[in-house]
Amino acid sequence: MRKKIIAGNWKMNKTPSEAVALINELKPLVANEEVDVVFCVPAISIVPAMEAAKGSNINIGAENMYFEESGAYTGEIAPNMLTDVGVKYVIIGHSERRDYFAETDETVNKKVLKAFEHGITPIICCGESLTQRQQGVTIDFIRQQIKIAFLNVTAEQAATAVIAYEPIWAIGTGMTATSDQAEEVCAAIRACIAEIYDDATAAAIRIQYGGSMNAGNAAELLAKPDIDGGLVGGASLKPDFGKIVNYNK
Ligand code: PGA
Repeated sequence: MRKKIIAGNWKMNKTPSEAVALINELKPLVANEEVDVVFCVPAISIVPAMEAAKGSNINIGAENMYFEESGAYTGEIAPNMLTDVGVKYVIIGHSERRDYFAETDETVNKKVLKAFEHGITPIICCGESLTQRQQGVTIDFIRQQIKIAFLNVTAEQAATAVIAYEPIWAIGTGMTATSDQAEEVCAAIRACIAEIYDDATAAAIRIQYGGSMNAGNAAELLAKPDIDGGLVGGASLKPDFGKIVNYNK
């Protein structure tokens, strides 16, 4: 039985002091031991967020990471900078990073390999555009994203990974995929993992849905057999996040 994992993606929101205030506000609302709870926050807020989350069930994660160890990469964050402060999760390849910061399937793969090398669990994002959905190539496109993201990743590593299926047309738009649409793709992702590795790896890996998940639609999405959690943007900055985390109560 896979434990659900619900992660907030704060994106470029909240100053460090606002981050601390929000964590203090949400801490009592997200107490649900049956679910892994992660807040992925801007790099500058990771340390104060960790302090604020101490003693709670909240894990603090990063929103991005570079694939080199150190060196002349102005503005980037190295994996050992994250592990040094206790980060265990990092979002890799969010569609906003692919669209605005030129990340490719290949750089996503390099980051995934580097995260595993440092014992950080990658939350690997994939998802189709509206045009791709309308043209009926969603599953083909996502299989390609997954196959490249997992190049040279071992079965043992893959079993611990988190994949976030986020249709781009549903992100920040209020247009959630129906639970059947989300389940269809999440099931296809699991089948793709079984094809690359084996049934045991596919059964272990956790697959989230993301894209306008909110307190009203979370329970229906999370009831689907292949949806093991959510990656939540807008609603993770509000008390609503507590309702999503407690979808089973
Ligand atoms: P949203 O964002 O919940 O605001 O649609 C999700 C995401 O981009 O991870």
